[in-house]
Amino acid sequence: MSTGPANAVAEAAPAELPRVRRAEPIDLAAALDSFEELWSPRVAARVNDYDIRIAKVAGEHVWHAHSDTDEFFLVLEGTLYISLRDGLDGGERVVILNRGEIFVVPRNMEHRPASPAGASILLVEPTGTLSVGDRHDLLPDHVDATTGHALD
Ligand code: NI
Repeated sequence: MSTGPANAVAEAAPAELPRVRRAEPIDLAAALDSFEELWSPRVAARVNDYDIRIAKVAGEHVWHAHSDTDEFFLVLEGTLYISLRDGLDGGERVVILNRGEIFVVPRNMEHRPASPAGASILLVEPTGTLSVGDRHDLLPDHVDATTGHALD
């Protein structure tokens, strides 16, 4: 059947392009129930070149910064505190996000998420973005340095 590379390309018509996963709805509550690891994001979906990641968090993450990308946070449950070094006076401030609230950490800004009582969050960032940024403080054992794990 094969008649060469040119036809092989032609046969991969746009409507027939294979999908890595079937397009199915994702129940975020069920997805969150499917894992227990803290500070270890799962990739729930991809939108063009971006991951939609979900994570369970408790305690403190690590101070870090993403040199080339903003980072979007949505709190699904609980309260998230994001410490920022925004450079205005060299000082730190804390943004408090409750359920249903969103925040974007600007690219290159040092930040440290934390949640004393625990929270579930949704993140939007470019596929391949490392969870601990391009530069970070010494990594504690409880922080997973990952570009996001697959959902089971
Ligand atoms: Ni970050």
